Amino acid sequence: MIAIRACEGFDELAACVALQIETWGYDETDVIPLKSFLLAQKIGGQVIGAFDSDIAAANPAQPAKSLVGFALSLPGVKTIHGQPHAYLHSHMLAVRQGHRDRGLGAQLKREQRRDALARGIRLMEWTFDPLEIKNAYLNIHRLGAIVRGYRVNFYGVSSSRLQGGLPTDRLLAQWHLDSPRVQAILDGRPVAAPVPGERILVPASIYQWKASEAGRERALAVQLENRGKFQQAFSQGLAVLGFVRDAEGNGVYQLGPLNQPDLN
Ligand SMILES: CC(C)(COP(=O)(O)OP(=O)(O)OC[C@H]1O[C@@H](n2cnc3c(N)ncnc32)[C@H](O)[C@@H]1OP(=O)(O)O)[C@@H](O)C(=O)NCCC(=O)NCCS
Repeated sequence: MIAIRACEGFDELAACVALQIETWGYDETDVIPLKSFLLAQKIGGQVIGAFDSDIAAANPAQPAKSLVGFALSLPGVKTIHGQPHAYLHSHMLAVRQGHRDRGLGAQLKREQRRDALARGIRLMEWTFDPLEIKNAYLNIHRLGAIVRGYRVNFYGVSSSRLQGGLPTDRLLAQWHLDSPRVQAILDGRPVAAPVPGERILVPASIYQWKASEAGRERALAVQLENRGKFQQAFSQGLAVLGFVRDAEGNGVYQLGPLNQPDLN
């Protein structure tokens, strides 16, 4: 049984920090420390955990060991039409290796959304690596986030092993939490397919290429080519509205003009 709930106490926050290091392999210059998790909780952000009750039962003296996933978000303010609006920036989502692909990542995001809406917050944003096919699929196809912005080398150099030494380019996902489109996608109801327009491909081999010295040049070439395509499409007012995987595991971003229902 998995419980999804807000983290409590220092031990659970320390378990988030440990899972963060296990997931990204960060060195001490990149790691988000326990104090920042604590602050996020105190200032209107979120630290939400996924807890496995079997692991808890096997470790009665250390219940925080049962943390198998977490989502961290920070509060932000945006000025829209001259008015300040609170929103959340989701900075990290991690699920322990052996617990992946069972829906926990999506459940953590749903709990972030539920908590945000309960507090009157209607927008959540986060950045993700455009080369990560799985994350794009989760963010766009499963959750209904849209993308209208590209950030070149957003974090500068990163010690993350998932980055493979490439520039930290990021897409900016926007999750309009109570839009009819997001609600329909989360309910499993059909939404209008994006008008056929620009399509941007990420080859399935990207994971291998990023992970090896020999493949890095090819991964960089894909990153640079796609960077140009995203920048051009966004400058023309297009948005990423869909993402599909083909039989070989390649990922395809589908871009089209943004309609009002995508935002409301
Ligand atoms: C991203 C992450 C949090 C997702 O957690 P998760 O619990 O595995 O996610 P879910 O099971 O809810 O959803 C994953 C979806 O991607 C699909 N998927 C798995 N591997 C995939 C791949 N190589 N390509 C495309 N989709 C893939 C799964 O089938 C699932 O979709 P489905 O529910 O339709 O079957 C987890 O993989 C992780 O911790 N990754 C490392 C850290 C990271 O990249 N975090 C996000 C950026 S901050």
